[in-house]
This record gives sequence, structure tokens and C-alpha cells, in this order.
Amino acid sequence: MAAGPGEDRWWRGGVLYQIYPRSYADSNGDGYGDLQGIISRLDYLADLGVAALWLSPVTVSPNRDWGYDVADYCDIDPDFGTLEDLDRLVSEGAKRDVRILLDLVPNHTSDQHPWFVDARRGRDAVHRDWYVWADPALDGGPPNNWISVFGGSAWELDEPSGQYFLHNFELEQPDLNWWNEDVRNAFDEIVRFWWDRGVAGFRIDVCNMMIKDAQLRDNPPATEDDPLDQQLMGVRSVYNSDRPEAHDILRRWRAISNRYDTPRLLIGETNVEQLATLMQFYGNGHDELHGGFNFVFINAALDAATMRAIVEEVEATLPDGAWPLWTGSNHDVSRLATRWAGGDAARVRCALMILLCLRGTPFLYQGDEIGLTDGPIEQADLRDAVGIRFWPYYKGRDPERTPMPWTHSREGGFSPEGVRPWLPMADAARCNVADQVADPDSVLSFTRRAIARRVSNEDLALGSYTSLVSPGDTWVFQRGQGTVVALNMSDAAREISGLRGSITLATDREREGHRVDGVVTVAPWSGLVVES
Ligand code: NOJ
Repeated sequence: MAAGPGEDRWWRGGVLYQIYPRSYADSNGDGYGDLQGIISRLDYLADLGVAALWLSPVTVSPNRDWGYDVADYCDIDPDFGTLEDLDRLVSEGAKRDVRILLDLVPNHTSDQHPWFVDARRGRDAVHRDWYVWADPALDGGPPNNWISVFGGSAWELDEPSGQYFLHNFELEQPDLNWWNEDVRNAFDEIVRFWWDRGVAGFRIDVCNMMIKDAQLRDNPPATEDDPLDQQLMGVRSVYNSDRPEAHDILRRWRAISNRYDTPRLLIGETNVEQLATLMQFYGNGHDELHGGFNFVFINAALDAATMRAIVEEVEATLPDGAWPLWTGSNHDVSRLATRWAGGDAARVRCALMILLCLRGTPFLYQGDEIGLTDGPIEQADLRDAVGIRFWPYYKGRDPERTPMPWTHSREGGFSPEGVRPWLPMADAARCNVADQVADPDSVLSFTRRAIARRVSNEDLALGSYTSLVSPGDTWVFQRGQGTVVALNMSDAAREISGLRGSITLATDREREGHRVDGVVTVAPWSGLVVES
């Protein structure tokens, strides 16, 4: 059964919110965030107005890659609590109209997952073919030239059996073999396990890499036209990434999703360089992902012409009936308040206004709503294996994973006072939830008003997108029949013409409620929503 338009409204018209659970709220004083901590913050999230939470992995993991190395897909890691806690989060969320999405990690398991432990027993092991094994090349070296996303060869020799296994990420994250039907069946069970418990959907980790070239062909050399990471690797990822057969797997999960009364949401981590490639993950608009993260947009500069061009291309090429996603931060990239805004609150508000007013579902990352910047990480603080490996050339992903500052106290109300969180607390005295709740002019108060406007105004929630002509460094677009969003993304005031109606949302609260008719002066790095 295909989802009808009404079934999509909760997420298409809503705002979704990513939680990095280890860094959200520590309920038991061990320095790590946990599920009880999230439950204790549900009222805050409901007041913020978000429709659903996506939790980065909370399943059992030895934490070589902080949860993205899964050792049991159907249980909760003790660091976070228990299955009962997860059930409670789902039911307490439902009482507040906040749904829960989990993270599905199908490309690889932990090397401690029982499937891999068995696979290593030898060539005849039951689960041997669940992973990607290959004989050495003629010179005894790795079977081909594939490079791990996290550096070095993507192959590791298993000496007892004389074969190599593939790991596109850490050595402790062996890649599953998605050509094997038993792997597919096992994941069918896993998705049903969570969906039957009331989980509203999944964010699917690296879903563009799940399946690899069946012949394991060498990747071609990178050229100067390739993205920088591939140039540094020396090869273009043609055969270990973005293979067409990944779409068969997504169609299979979409079919399962559609069997639920409320179809479960499939959101993909589609970290691809081209918008045309992103569009493929929507299939025919109804048979693959509900939404794919747009990394072209995430990686773009906060610049009116650049962002408008991306949005226009998405609008022009998205399959009929499909729906875009917009996000500026996550647990793998520098936070938008740092990367886009350089810590400047006016730019943060503009970025939030863009995310919350475009046609498509915004995903905020925890802390975006208060304009939280990247945390202060010294070499001694590092917890991310990638940062440890590449320091100081790349500081890894810890800066965007520092704990959520709830109050202005030393530990920011994240852990009880006196307990040091697993990563350093940012400057909580400067930026925290409690102070911003109390301040009508704070970034948080702006974010709340923007979410409330988006949810209640049909144009902003579901209406069409049309670019309007406007001066350089401004971005003006119409949503639906009668709502215009005008942004001045420059350091000088700009005059924008053709704005008629009431200002229902403004980055500068003083302007809200005023009527405009014709030419309007818009201050540097500020924006208005005008409804006729
Ligand atoms: C993408 C996840 O977001 C990232 O945190 C992780 O390290 C890799 N996939 C590997 O699972």
C-alpha cells in the first residue's frame, strides 16, 4: 500500500531533530548521555516544536566508532540504558507528539558482532560469506586498490585463513556482503524488530556504499576534477561506492515500511558529491528513500547565490512526489554556527531561517537551536579515532560532538556538577538553553518562533518554492500562494521590493507584526517572512 499524502504530513510539514545521545543529557552521572536523559528533556523538545528525533546509534557497540560499529542490532548499549528505556522514550515521545527514529548501520558491523566472530573461524564458517572476503593479489598484497574512508587500504589480512576482509571505514568495522541473501533477510528482521516496537523510521548510515562491485574491480586513478578527499586517496571511488544495486535494498525496505499503518520513514545518509546522484536515492519518488541528506548543501558556503542555485537544482530535478531535506550540521561536520556563521548570531539566525523556511524537511542538529558552536578540543581530549589518527591536520569529529549546554554551570547541566563529561563542555556560560529560554531575543526564542510559524502556516509547511528576482547577496523566495521569505546575506543594508503584507517572522523580533508594502530595507545578515 502506498502512503497517502496525509500520512506524510507529520514529517513533511514538521521539523526533525538529531540527537547524538552520548552528548545530550547524562541522567546517571557517568559522564555519558543516555536514554533517560533524553526522556527528561522531552518537554523541552516538545516546546521547541519538533516532530521527531533521530538518535545516532544506541545499539550495542564496543565504540571503536562510537556506536557506528554495531555488535548487536536488536539491543540497547548499557551506556545508554535498556530496551525498556527505549520503549519508554517511544511512548513518552508519543504523548507529546514527538516520534523516534533510530540509526541503522547496514554497511558494516563491529568486528565483535557474533556474525563476524563466526566468519573469522574459517572459510567454511556459516557466516563467512556475510562479509566481503577476497584472496590476496598475485604479489600477496591486498586484493585491489580500494582505500578506506578513514585512511589506508580498505583490506585487512586475516592470517589464519590467508584471505583479506574489506573495511571501508575502521579496521574494526568489517563490511557486510549485501550480495548474500541471508544478510538481506537478517536486516529485514532487524528493521521489523524496531518498527514493530513503534520506532517511526531510520536514518540509514552510508546507504550509498552498502553494496560493492561484485568483481571487486580496481578503482580508477583520481583526477584533479575529483573531490579533494578522493584526490588525496589517489583513487576515485567508483567500485566501492554508489553502486546501482544499493537501490534494490532500499526498495526492499520501502516495501516493508509501506506495510505499516503509518509507513516508517527511510532517511538516507546520502553523502554524494552530485545532486543528480542524490536524486537517484528517491527512486521513482515513491519506492526508495523518503528523504536523502543533501551534502552538497551542507558543504556549500552561506552565500545567497550558491545556496539558491542548489535549491533551484533540487526543485528542478527531484522526482515527482518526492520531498527534499535540508540540514546544516550533524555529528560528522563542523556545526553550522561555526562553519557557516563563524560564531556570529546574526548569521546563525539567517541560516536557521533558510533551513526552516525552504520547501522540505529541516533537520536541526542538537544545539543548532541555540546557535551552539563547535566545542574546544585539545589533543588530550580526543575520543574520535579519526581525529586521533590525523591530528593536527584534521581534528576529527569531537568538536561537533561536545555535550549539550543546558545551564550556565561548569558542566552545563549535562552531567551532575563534579562529573566530567566524556568530551569537554563548551563555554556554557556564554551559550546555554536555560539563559536563552528566558530571553525573548535569544537564538532559541527565534528558533521556537520560526518552527511554530512553519508548522502553522500551510505555505511554509507544504507550499511550493519559487525564486524571486532580488538584489545581489539577497535571496528572496515565495512559498505557496502568499508567503515570501526575504534574506539579506551581506554586510550592507539592502532594499528589497515587492514585499506586501505582514511580517510574521523576523530575525530581528522588533519587526514582527509590522505591515510592509513595496520597498523594504533589510539590515545586514537578517531576514523577514512576509505573509499577504
Ligand atoms: C557515517 C556516520 O555518520 C559516521 O559517524 C560514521 O563514522 C560512518 N558513517 C561509518 O559508520
